[in-house]
Amino acid sequence: MQTNPHFFDGNYASLTEEHDIPALHIEGTLPPELSGSLFRVGPNPQYAPRDNSYHWFSGDGMVHAFHIGQGRVSYSNRWARTPKWQLEHAAGRALFGTFGNPATSDPRAEGQNGGTANTNMLWHGERLFALEESHQPFELDPHSLASKGHQSFGDRVTSRFTAHPKVDPESGVLHFFAYSPDGPCSPTMHYGVMDQDCEVTRLESFTSPYASMAHDFMVTRGYVLFPVTPLTLSVERAMRGKPLLAWETGLRTHVGVMPHGGGVDTLRWFDADACHVFHVMNAWDDGNTIVAYVMQSDTAPGLPDAEGQPGDPAAMAARLCRWTFNLGSADTGFQREYLDDLAAEFPRIDERYAGRRNRYGFYTCHRTSRARDDSESVLYDSLARFDFDTRKRSMYTLPLGDVVSEPVFVPRSTSAAEGDGWLLAVAWRDKEQRSDLLVFDAVDLAAGPVAVAGLPHRVPFGFHGTWRPGL
Ligand SMILES: [Fe+2]
Repeated sequence: MQTNPHFFDGNYASLTEEHDIPALHIEGTLPPELSGSLFRVGPNPQYAPRDNSYHWFSGDGMVHAFHIGQGRVSYSNRWARTPKWQLEHAAGRALFGTFGNPATSDPRAEGQNGGTANTNMLWHGERLFALEESHQPFELDPHSLASKGHQSFGDRVTSRFTAHPKVDPESGVLHFFAYSPDGPCSPTMHYGVMDQDCEVTRLESFTSPYASMAHDFMVTRGYVLFPVTPLTLSVERAMRGKPLLAWETGLRTHVGVMPHGGGVDTLRWFDADACHVFHVMNAWDDGNTIVAYVMQSDTAPGLPDAEGQPGDPAAMAARLCRWTFNLGSADTGFQREYLDDLAAEFPRIDERYAGRRNRYGFYTCHRTSRARDDSESVLYDSLARFDFDTRKRSMYTLPLGDVVSEPVFVPRSTSAAEGDGWLLAVAWRDKEQRSDLLVFDAVDLAAGPVAVAGLPHRVPFGFHGTWRPGL
């Protein structure tokens, strides 16, 4: 895998300062009912990489917090001071190779925890975590963002933990999984349940069709689904100088389906022609049929093939797609139908409908339907709201050159109708080389933001965020 120079340019570049700003400048009017904190995270390497194999996914995590209430927004940002961050800080330079690749790591990194805490934020059990799927959750103080370290939850989470756990909106129980928990490239997976107090109440292990970087999964009222796509990790391949993480042709895509009431021995595997999904919007079931809304592409975005060759950008463009599993049929196949023609990512919903039939979904997308011309790009210029009943999309496009982050939905009140609330996203302002927090009325996205909270500096392009209600 070759370094994409974009990873160090413009708003991919690391932010080197940590700030505390008591009040951001506000344009428009912040909804008085909007009260809580938006936490976002993304890669922000502390030091220049050791070689040209650096990949954006492997940078040290930096957390950005926007605390909103009484018409004001305060802001802070902190690096997640992981064991990797601290070890490298003491050395004054990078010690870990990309994804901890032993072939490119300093001997001082050998056997050390290389977690980056750079992918997603989780608010659960009144605790804040930064997640990165190859390591344990990393806890931070929600007010100061001070690092509290990786957590094992009573030695029940000992290696990996997905960056995309699912919280049941009624029970408050959290479902999680992990790929290759028994070591790099092991074809095993874990599935677990954590209660509202962060106690692990269920943990099972099963074998997947092959070792895959499984980034997301689905949880409905009745079932848990595990997608396994041909995005494989191979230490043996890396030691040959080929990519550790690559799209491996010749494999099919598999999805394991398990009822909540059954153990992993009841897993039923469905399969399809090779396709990739990084992110799931939502999934629901009616007993005999499971429907999942996913961002599907033909190959994995931003990743090379097993020989290290870049893929076709058109094949890497993800689009909103519906997967349908007929549990009453003996067929191992499942149906796939694209619902939107725009290249899109970072799907979110009104999470009160997680696992339930949702009418609305939100995501980032490109204004035009052309394929992305930069295989490494996640530089989306628009936000979309999709109505699954009418199959109509409304959208808001930023000025040319600006880039918008994943949108996070906040309901107007606990009793508000589905999709009635606000959509929060961070925008990169290309001309001014800085970032804004945007607050939209989620019902009328096309009207543009109702409030804009301006930062004097950049929030580098990142991945995911979460909302903690109340201040
Ligand atoms: Fe993700």
